[in-house]
Amino acid sequence: MFEGTNIQLRGFELEDAATIIKYYNDLDVRRFLDHPFPLSLQDAEQWIRNTWETSKKGKAYFFAIALKETNQLIGTCGLFALNRINRKAELMIVIYNKKYWGKGFGTEAIRLLLNYGFKQLNLNRILLFTHDDNTRAQHIYEKIGFKPGGKRRQASYFEGAYHDLLLYDLLASEFQE
Ligand SMILES: CC(C)(COP(=O)(O)OP(=O)(O)OC[C@H]1O[C@@H](n2cnc3c(N)ncnc32)[C@H](O)[C@@H]1OP(=O)(O)O)[C@@H](O)C(=O)NCCC(=O)NCCS
Repeated sequence: MFEGTNIQLRGFELEDAATIIKYYNDLDVRRFLDHPFPLSLQDAEQWIRNTWETSKKGKAYFFAIALKETNQLIGTCGLFALNRINRKAELMIVIYNKKYWGKGFGTEAIRLLLNYGFKQLNLNRILLFTHDDNTRAQHIYEKIGFKPGGKRRQASYFEGAYHDLLLYDLLASEFQE
């Protein structure tokens, strides 16, 4: 468990599945996640079981983002596509419940996750892809210190249009806690 000022990153419990599907199936929330299908309760439970397996195998580390005061699940963040030779991984984040957007929780969760990736996993480079029109996410990544590094042109298709995926990355030497 990793604690910030308002939130904590913890492992998932199967009971979290109900909260995940309650909010994840809102199109606003999953619009930028390249996942066009709604989730069932069974899908979410299976996904949680997979997070246990992948972290046991050292392949990916997904955390529940929970409010520190109540332990209530509000999102997910994680490091996946880990490469131990090049010491790099890809980052993902979602705050499920829109009422918690814009309160600083996303930024806090990313900082905790970066600290884990650089200080515990000894990664050298953490990268991510974000949709060209996801300006909220881009603002956060740039604020934290991620550098833009090019794009995958028309790599994502949703709601009748192609979108570029923008690459951002951060090196261990650039990370300021
Ligand atoms: C992206 C996401 C994780 C951000 O979490 P959050 O808790 O809302 O973010 P924070 O409150 O920490 O920060 C929001 C920042 O974006 C700014 N912002 C809000 N809307 C914005 C917009 N449309 N364009 C640019 N900046 C915007 C806010 O002013 C704030 O910046 P500040 O701290 O400098 O004032 C959350 O909105 C989310 O889960 N979105 C859906 C899934 C998603 O897009 N995931 C990322 C995929 S790459």
